[in-house]
Amino acid sequence: MKLTIIGTGYVGLVTGTCFAEVGHQVTCVDNDATKVKLLQGGGIPIYEPGLQELVQKNVAAGRLSFTSNTAEGVEKSDVIFIAVPTPPQPDGSVDMSFIERVARDIAGAMTSYKIIVDKSTVPVQTGDKVAETIKRYCKAQVEFDVVSNPEFLREGFAVEDLMHPDRVVIGVRTQRPVAAMKEIYTPFKAPIIVTDINSAELIKHASNSFLALKISYINAVSVLCEATGANVQEVAAGMGMDERIGRRFLNAGIGFGGSCFPKDLSAFIKISEQVGYNFRLLKEVQHINSEQMQRFAKKITDTLWVLKGKKIGVLGLAFKQNTDDVRSSPAIELCQLLLKEGATLRVHDPKAMDKARPLLPNATYVEDMNDVAEGCDALVVATEWDEFKKLDLEKARKGLSHPIMFDGRNLFDPQEMERLGWIYKSVGR
Ligand code: UDX
Repeated sequence: MKLTIIGTGYVGLVTGTCFAEVGHQVTCVDNDATKVKLLQGGGIPIYEPGLQELVQKNVAAGRLSFTSNTAEGVEKSDVIFIAVPTPPQPDGSVDMSFIERVARDIAGAMTSYKIIVDKSTVPVQTGDKVAETIKRYCKAQVEFDVVSNPEFLREGFAVEDLMHPDRVVIGVRTQRPVAAMKEIYTPFKAPIIVTDINSAELIKHASNSFLALKISYINAVSVLCEATGANVQEVAAGMGMDERIGRRFLNAGIGFGGSCFPKDLSAFIKISEQVGYNFRLLKEVQHINSEQMQRFAKKITDTLWVLKGKKIGVLGLAFKQNTDDVRSSPAIELCQLLLKEGATLRVHDPKAMDKARPLLPNATYVEDMNDVAEGCDALVVATEWDEFKKLDLEKARKGLSHPIMFDGRNLFDPQEMERLGWIYKSVGR
């Protein structure tokens, strides 16, 4: 099928590329001409495992192209996906100006029936607003359908998630666009749920908020574990074996971050408020998340006493593993707390150092993770990168003035660390 994707951020670029990979003819549109040039030349603006190869392969096969001309994109396809940012505003509500702008641009360029699909994460009832806007700005008075088709990909696993989704959600007002939407997704062999637009929009916010709730839940349990000598990983393993609960998203740590959970939680709370419901449960999820970070930082200050003049090595800057994304990264927040207390930092991340530099301009960036501890008073693990498990512990121990590790992601085994002579503090164990 001929598909156009407007917006080449995480969601738009990965969606477009995976659609091309399964055989669709895809045009990706972005108003950032520099980005379009980079993509046309086979480069990609983000680090995402497997994506660059897939972009290059599909561009070479003639199935994937990039343009900064929205009208051209609208003209070429019958199905137009909107995948532009919906950033948070200071009060937690969502800035809808990019979506509104794109809806107007599409309307202005439409000359025949189009299916306009919203992929961005949006407040419930956005579909109605998009439909109203298109109707208002469409000069040609052509027919169209608006569809909600939220995306559930995780950064770092985006290609994998898109190629093998747990489910595809399609929200419609009429039956007319359903066949085309199903045809687009048939190659992905995933269960498809066809529902109304408002439910589809709510599924996205409700899912992300629930996952964030799961993390805050286990982080709250980790406090009890620490107070009683239990081990949160054992508790999570035991809970997770109940199929109704599941083991995933029960990893205690320094809390969740990234460009989705914090923003989607705030938005969902705000949306609830606007329809007259005080979603106190989700406010508590936010509260537990910020307390978890404070509690971990306190562990560091309680042990090192005065941070002023201390040098701390930090492993991890990205908001999670397998990404170079540092937006709302708990690791960056922790570094900023340590700097505020007067510590100096030696930091390393396998992919996120370039993006962290503007946020932490005074830290020393170390290329090899095994050199981070050199001359430091303590080592901190702030992101759950798998490769940190292969840290040369002996070298790190010798590099430190005293072998102290604060592991905010529970990557090492406490007994083994003690046996190796470390003072080892993790979360909930
Ligand atoms: C999330 C959703 O998973 C995805 O479905 C949605 O489309 C976008 O938001 P993402 O933000 O890419 O994806 O990352 P995710 O893997 O969900 O992790 C979010 C944060 O939670 C990270 O900071 C991670 O470190 C943290 N986390 C995750 C935990 O602290 N514990 C866990 O058990 C899982």
